[in-house]
Amino acid sequence: MSNNINKTGVIGNPIEHSLSPEIHNYWIKQNQLKTEEYQKIKLDIDNLESQVSELIKNKFFGLNVTIPFKEELYLFCDDVSGTAKKLKAINTITCNNGKIFGTNTDPDGFINSLSNQIKNENITNKNALVIGAGGSSRSIVYALNKMGAHVTLVNRTFKKSEQIVRDLNIEMQIENFESINKLVSGCDLIVNTTSLGMTGHKNIEIDFVNSKPNLHVYDLVYNPIETKLLKDAKDNNKTCQNGLDMLVYQAAESFKIWHGIYPNIDNDLFSILRRDK
Ligand code: ATR
Repeated sequence: MSNNINKTGVIGNPIEHSLSPEIHNYWIKQNQLKTEEYQKIKLDIDNLESQVSELIKNKFFGLNVTIPFKEELYLFCDDVSGTAKKLKAINTITCNNGKIFGTNTDPDGFINSLSNQIKNENITNKNALVIGAGGSSRSIVYALNKMGAHVTLVNRTFKKSEQIVRDLNIEMQIENFESINKLVSGCDLIVNTTSLGMTGHKNIEIDFVNSKPNLHVYDLVYNPIETKLLKDAKDNNKTCQNGLDMLVYQAAESFKIWHGIYPNIDNDLFSILRRDK
């Protein structure tokens, strides 16, 4: 990295609530990097490519990409990683000698974020239920398939699940949203990728009574920190994790790409992120 080209940040719209600056600036400080503060930048929906080119001219060499630009900027890259190619979406841009490289750190972030409990049990050949078929669901399904899990996908809009199967060309079962409670008893892992349970949204109601003792429940929502889904799971003695884990671990992958250091993921960082949540 040249001394002058030293800016990183996240682009999206809206971007006000992004926690990425807290995460990256924590690691920039911890590693005493001689780089500018990571910034959040709201871009207009129109003329996206020229706005990104302008940022690159203004010494940005690393950009995280969030909603709603992940798919559009995939097409703007000079080169992309295999994961990005599969997902046709990027969340990380790196600019080197004027060439733009795009990748997607969400699947590896998800895999690395999985709690030791589920890692130790080895998810290979186990049953994972993924709820939701939006953008984040694609990364989770892709990651779980890579880990050898048997994936069942449920979504309110059935044809969006079918579209994921077609796009990713992954063998998995698709079921109706209403059948979630019938599927729970066979699950080793449940991942909620929908907005259900977020502050101001409806909750997702799962009956854990007949679930396996070792069922692990992962809610990608982190606002609130403990959703009704996670509280219900905990009340039924299930292990749980919230979406801050995924957020931090996907950020760690981007940080490593840009700065060559896999950052330390410690409790102080999570305390900072939990504030006001
Ligand atoms: P993200 O990029 O975070 O995954 P998204 O692409 O907007 O966000 O996807 C939102 C997901 O939440 C979708 O799976 C959506 O279901 P639909 O595909 O049927 O729209 C799901 N979702 C949102 N509100 C929901 C609700 N009230 N009941 C069930 N699912 C809901």
